[in-house]
Amino acid sequence: MSSLTEISVSSPADFHVHLRQGPMSSLVTPHVREGGFSLAYVMPNLKPPITTTEQALAYKHDLEKIDPRVHYLMTLYLSPELTPDEIRKAKKAGIVGVKSYPRGVTTNSDGGIESYEVYYPVFEAMQEVDMVLNLHGEVPSDASANVHVLNAEPTFLPHLFALHAAFPRLRIVLEHATTRVAIEAVKSCGNTVGCTITPHHLALTVDDWAGQALNFCKPVAKYPDDRQALRQVIRDGHPRFFLGSDSAPHPSHAKTTCATDHGCAAGIYTSPILLPLVTDLLDSFGALDKVEGFVSRFGRVFYKVDELAPALRDGGDAAVVLRQVPPERLQDNRVPERYVSADGQDVIPFWAGRGIRWEIVKQ
Ligand code: DOR
Ligand code: ZN
Repeated sequence: MSSLTEISVSSPADFHVHLRQGPMSSLVTPHVREGGFSLAYVMPNLKPPITTTEQALAYKHDLEKIDPRVHYLMTLYLSPELTPDEIRKAKKAGIVGVKSYPRGVTTNSDGGIESYEVYYPVFEAMQEVDMVLNLHGEVPSDASANVHVLNAEPTFLPHLFALHAAFPRLRIVLEHATTRVAIEAVKSCGNTVGCTITPHHLALTVDDWAGQALNFCKPVAKYPDDRQALRQVIRDGHPRFFLGSDSAPHPSHAKTTCATDHGCAAGIYTSPILLPLVTDLLDSFGALDKVEGFVSRFGRVFYKVDELAPALRDGGDAAVVLRQVPPERLQDNRVPERYVSADGQDVIPFWAGRGIRWEIVKQ
């Protein structure tokens, strides 16, 4: 705990968020700003996935109509439809990255990839035009090879090394790292490899999701020692590790019942409380002085946001000020129990009903 009771964070940026489509999108998109953020790096795993420049631009337009206060950085979903020509077109249109999901590991990843080599011409083009490759760093479970949710991320890491070796100038982000070995892997790579960390993986371990569907996400939270490694790299202020919330709303019936073949939906919803939540967590493990680097500066530098969005650089969005909530007021600063969309879907956020020890007082 720090003695600071007020902090100011310039231009918070969430470098991994799911904003969905339809009425769910109308509900959750304004929560980006409510949670203190003015920049969102938007995931493409819609139904159908965003695989072309046209689709990404139309999606961006939809999001801007819902909430024009946020700057949206768009991504494409890696799939066989993606060609080097499409990459060059996407770059010209301002699309920033390409997200790869191994087949079947998480929500809407049925169209995900099975092998990376076939995509080498696409990666070559991405390297040439300086687009970012975002990796969901898990391999699919395979009982015959003893691969399961707890070792799916460590088992993926050889792919990260192989891609980095083959394309050393390609910027690669290992998304939502959950293990000590993944943190060490990213550190051992060159400056073109970055890594996002979610707030929920800073808070949870296996005991918190086993039997508690609301805390189930992919990758699953790992062991206390892994969580320790995530916290430490933030305390160290390592500039290649930055916030990507992976805020991923699902209607509560999909979370709380196991009606599908795959069990309950993977995803934890944090957008509306994101900046207070991250500040509370970093404060709890002695990293309050690292909030600005972790939620703003490091990611912006890695993504070259100043080049992508000069308006933001020139003071387009002001600092957000947070204040510590005194213990006697904690009960008044509780996370809402649920959010409900216009068509009646309800989403239960992370820490529902719990007091957060930081609040936004100016943005
Ligand atoms: O928990 C997750 N939820 N992990 C992902 O990779 C996808 C996300 C979603 O879209 O719901
Ligand atoms: Zn995600």
